[in-house]
Amino acid sequence: MAADSARQELTSLMRAVWITKAGGPEVLTVRETADPEPGPGQIRVRVRAAGLSFSDVMARQGLYPDAPKPPCVVGYEIAGVVDKLGPAVTAFAVGTRVMALVRFGGHADVACLPAEQAVEIPDEMGFEQAAAIPVNYLTAYHMLFRVASVRPGERVLVHMAAGGVGIAVLQLCRTIGGVVTYGTASAGKHDVLRAEGCTHPIDYHSDDYVRRIRELTDGEGVDVVLDPLGGGDWKKGLSLLRPAGRLVAYGFANLSGGERRSLGRLIRQALGVPLITPLGLMDRNRTVSGVNLGHLWGQMTLMREGLQALVTLSRAGDVTPRIDAVVPFADAAQAHRRIIQHRNIGKIVLIP
Ligand SMILES: NC(=O)c1ccc[n+]([C@@H]2O[C@H](COP(=O)([O-])OP(=O)(O)OC[C@H]3O[C@@H](n4cnc5c(N)ncnc54)[C@H](OP(=O)(O)O)[C@@H]3O)[C@@H](O)[C@H]2O)c1
Repeated sequence: MAADSARQELTSLMRAVWITKAGGPEVLTVRETADPEPGPGQIRVRVRAAGLSFSDVMARQGLYPDAPKPPCVVGYEIAGVVDKLGPAVTAFAVGTRVMALVRFGGHADVACLPAEQAVEIPDEMGFEQAAAIPVNYLTAYHMLFRVASVRPGERVLVHMAAGGVGIAVLQLCRTIGGVVTYGTASAGKHDVLRAEGCTHPIDYHSDDYVRRIRELTDGEGVDVVLDPLGGGDWKKGLSLLRPAGRLVAYGFANLSGGERRSLGRLIRQALGVPLITPLGLMDRNRTVSGVNLGHLWGQMTLMREGLQALVTLSRAGDVTPRIDAVVPFADAAQAHRRIIQHRNIGKIVLIP
């Protein structure tokens, strides 16, 4: 009897990866707290896999202003099984397998979220693959199809090409037809990039990617630059745009260069940001735009449409998340290190 009630008590405790304070990977720890209850319009999901994103790493370093103040639990995406419905929820039944965007708190074995942030996982897809879709693929989808409107035959520069978003971009570019992609990544990842459809992998450690792309394009440059690096790279990206070209800024990874935040790096990178004026853009026929999925919560119809389209593309075999590693919550620090040491190819997924 006593063992039964102790077990019951255990199952009602939520386990989560906490960022205890800003710092190196050692500030991560697994803690247990009471299970959350779904509010009106919410579902509760027993999480089977959660995506680890670059922004989670930056949040731990104290470099991601959108993250809650530590101690906190981050994580923007989950896959699992609905186990409880809040008042007025009719869209899902208990037991449905779902993938979802969450506004933090994803690195936990239970999450409560508005029902409209979830979509059903197709039968043939596993939880780990499903957890790798919401953030990376939605970001890639939104940039390519809504913001940059990439057309057949265009040239697209993709930075961090072997990361989660980068591989999603490469796979989605293949669905457009004739798109020529230039992907920057460490040399050891180039075979995978080619296999994912990258036309020209470029090792930015040993090669000046601006010079290389000029060579490859007879000096013309590219139509679209997707840049999550920021600072001086935004300037370089602008210099590579052909007339009618579009630069999409969607991250500032250059702020993060080691295990911890560095003030010197912050200042250097801030000074590298290009000054852009409407007149300058007009004269050069350039478009500069920004994407931040974390600021689109008020546009859930748009986000759901994208997620549903991605489920359809995955059913057609056009979208197959590449899982780099599946890491238990207890080893989350190792997963963070794998990203900052540039070792991941594709998505790292955490499991409770
Ligand atoms: N705006 C949005 O809505 C949104 C959504 C999702 C992601 N993002 C941004 O997109 C970028 C990619 O995210 P992700 O989750 O796909 O990345 P990821 O999978 O964690 O990619 C990590 C890889 O990026 C490369 N890299 C380049 N600069 C780096 C640096 N300073 N520190 C560590 N690694 C670096 C490394 O590979 P190589 O050595 O091969 O270069 C590394 O293995 C990030 O900047 C992220 O913040 C933005």
